[in-house]
Amino acid sequence: MTSSGRHASAETGLGCYPPGPPEARHFPPGFLWGAATSSHQVDGNNKWSDWWEYEQSGRLPHVSGDACRHYELYEQDFDLARSWGHNAHRCSIEWSRIEPAEGMWNQDAVAHYRSVLRALLARGLEPVITLHHFTNPAWFTRAGGWLRQDSASVFARYVGFIAEQLGKDVRYWLTINEPTVYILQGYINGEWPPLLKASWIKAMIAFKNLARAHVLAYRRLHQVCRDAQVGFAHNAPVVMPCDAQRKRDRVAALVRDFLLNRAFFLLIGASFRNRERTARCLDYIGINYYTRAVIRSVGWGARALLGQACHLDHHSDRGEMSDTGWEVYPVGLRVALEKFSRFGLPLLVTENGIATDDETLRRDFIIRHLECLAEAREGGVNVIGYLYWSLMDNYEWTLGTAPHFGLAAVDPITHERRPRPCVEDFRRICLENCLRGYPPQLA
Ligand code: FCB
Repeated sequence: MTSSGRHASAETGLGCYPPGPPEARHFPPGFLWGAATSSHQVDGNNKWSDWWEYEQSGRLPHVSGDACRHYELYEQDFDLARSWGHNAHRCSIEWSRIEPAEGMWNQDAVAHYRSVLRALLARGLEPVITLHHFTNPAWFTRAGGWLRQDSASVFARYVGFIAEQLGKDVRYWLTINEPTVYILQGYINGEWPPLLKASWIKAMIAFKNLARAHVLAYRRLHQVCRDAQVGFAHNAPVVMPCDAQRKRDRVAALVRDFLLNRAFFLLIGASFRNRERTARCLDYIGINYYTRAVIRSVGWGARALLGQACHLDHHSDRGEMSDTGWEVYPVGLRVALEKFSRFGLPLLVTENGIATDDETLRRDFIIRHLECLAEAREGGVNVIGYLYWSLMDNYEWTLGTAPHFGLAAVDPITHERRPRPCVEDFRRICLENCLRGYPPQLA
């Protein structure tokens, strides 16, 4: 049997492997391999957060409840990660647990996160710590949230506290997860707290405050922690016109790309051209990559300018669709990595994953994205790690628990973790630090 991708796909009926090179692709020593989670999605009973408050009052379609009970089961989960060959793990600190009322620090929560970090380090898992992953303390949102004039300094106060308490056990920090997605969902689409629809002015104020919060947090972390590496996790869709021959589509794609992939960087002061300036607000960039955004311009005015997402039905090159309706488009990871490498900073893939119950597709997804990551590296892009989303199935925000992104399934009653088959393939890649042709199942 051949190891060429084309033949492999014909033999397995996958029909989706690109013709891949049979040679081994090595990653550099110290490359970070692992998975990612966020506290509200896995911990359970995250009672002091705004999401919890909105869920409980029926303003969101699903409640998080016990989630995966990771708050209690983290040691067992980290045992799994370690046994799966991981050497890194991304998780978040829940601001609302640390500061359940304004200016009041919860020492039990601090002790919990100290144990979490120790548990990671004891298992040889490099912590990658997110300080804000979509949720806020309920008191913060009630008091105006990211529209508050002092929101950035209120956030930076929490970050400073965390840095002092936990800083010596963390090297990789992510200040904010996907600021653009957070603003879109919360202030434009009206789907996430604070549930505001088409509130463009408020969206701009909150966006600016998030950017300011990142910069202040960056400074605080560096004041306190000598070896800190500070970035944020950027959702990096590859934006393209639906019809490249159509000028309107090209313009709409450019506008979208600016809003989704450039605006936040400009607001924090990062620029392709000025590396000194960039180095004052970022040490590395977290890249969350899932799919491409194909944009079609319709109607007139602002609608035409922003365009809308094309459903791709008429695109003959459309990839497989995940259960969340996101197209599988691995080459986009290479394109995104190449694009963001222009800042001259290391890139860490902080999320990449698929919601599916088709385990062949999940495995295929991981391998094809890693092929593209390796290609980017071979072309000179400095990628320092890959973290799959997610360690286990979890509470996927307004979609509830239906999408299955996990390396492990989680029993809804017993919370037992059930590792999925791809864990073995990914394990081999992590341990060998190498993508060796195609894993045995397809060889
Ligand atoms: C990302 C989020 C993460 C999860 C995945 C599927 O945008 O950062 O929390 O919801 O999507």
